[in-house]
Amino acid sequence: MSEMTKVLVTGGAGFIGSNFVRWAHNAHPDWQITTLDKLTYAGRLENLSSVMDSARHHFVQGDIADAAIAGPLVHDSDMVVHFAAETHVDRSIQSAAAFITTDVIGTFVLLEAARQATHLKRFVQISTDEVYGSVPSGASVETDELRPRNPYSASKAGADRLAYSYWATYGIPVVITRASNNYGPNQFPEKVIPLFITNAVDNIPVPLYGDGLNVRDWLHVDDHCRAIDVVMAQGTDGEVYNVGGGNEVTNVDLTHRILELAGRSDALITRVADRLGHDRRYALDTTKLRGLGWAPHVPFEEGLASTVDWYCQNESWWRPIKEQDQAYRAYYHTQYGSRANV
Ligand code: NAD
Ligand code: TYD
Repeated sequence: MSEMTKVLVTGGAGFIGSNFVRWAHNAHPDWQITTLDKLTYAGRLENLSSVMDSARHHFVQGDIADAAIAGPLVHDSDMVVHFAAETHVDRSIQSAAAFITTDVIGTFVLLEAARQATHLKRFVQISTDEVYGSVPSGASVETDELRPRNPYSASKAGADRLAYSYWATYGIPVVITRASNNYGPNQFPEKVIPLFITNAVDNIPVPLYGDGLNVRDWLHVDDHCRAIDVVMAQGTDGEVYNVGGGNEVTNVDLTHRILELAGRSDALITRVADRLGHDRRYALDTTKLRGLGWAPHVPFEEGLASTVDWYCQNESWWRPIKEQDQAYRAYYHTQYGSRANV
């Protein structure tokens, strides 16, 4: 038997990370995958239940900022795909500390470990389109200036450029992806799509920020997984690749579509106070990644419908979070209690 490729996935119990681990486990029988995840509020072992008994997957609970745990795992890897992060903009506005420790310092710890690694061929830094800041018109290209405008996107921009610097300075084989807003199964019900779907299922108001005309470009998580795979195989060290779904939708349009798919009335839409510093629009030029043969496959209408179906069929996944998790209840109350009675 040929030798296995050892792939370390950080944050693999979260939304995109778990979709990637499950996808890669199927697509790459020659990969030995290790998931390193702290299991914060957003990390859920049940997201990995289908691979937990596999001999080709190993789970380690730990903090990426803890060099004693992360270091040996990085040293032992052929490839690292680094998803682990604090990810929710609204939480970063409430309190940014964890974003600095995980997104910036945690990434620094992994990169330092990569300097000692002997057979590392790839370090994929999972960045975001939010590092470009708000884009009033046109579409961001990879060489555009970064103008992050909230603590989450600023911490991700710090990690993005730190990873780049470890390629430029030490020759670490870093590639950086900047994806647009992802959607699909297993997304924590704080982000707008799963929050609005699950509120709609329960026939309770959906809190739309400001005038609802902010635009996001929606990318199905499966298309994101394939993009990462393409960049791992064909990307050039030190380069950045935008990953966008090409589905620019205003929040109000998105909300109408979700309510229609869930069979609920538009009367559930509750206009609430806007997010502080709310970025108006993100948009990506994906010419560079398309040049490597990637294109998004999931039409937004189909992806959104199957995502609504997933939440309808997996109430046992989200209901305990929304109804029994005291930390979630406290977050929801702080975030929405003072905005409106939702
Ligand atoms: P998520 O919040 O669902 O999951 C994050 C995971 O990281 C969780 O499993 C959590 O337990 C883990 N984690 C957090 N801190 C950790 C630490 N200190 N050590 C180890 N594990 C830790 O996030 P997501 O939406 O899946 O995003 C994954 C990555 O993709 C992030 O880097 C995010 O910035 C990036 N990204 C997300 C989107 C999106 O739309 N969700 C878009 C572009 C880029
Ligand atoms: P979100 O899912 O938090 O992703 P991001 O801020 O990373 O783009 O939000 C997506 C859009 O939905 C954003 O413009 C803010 C808006 N939004 C609401 O209108 N209401 C909400 O309750 C949430 C969570 C988001």
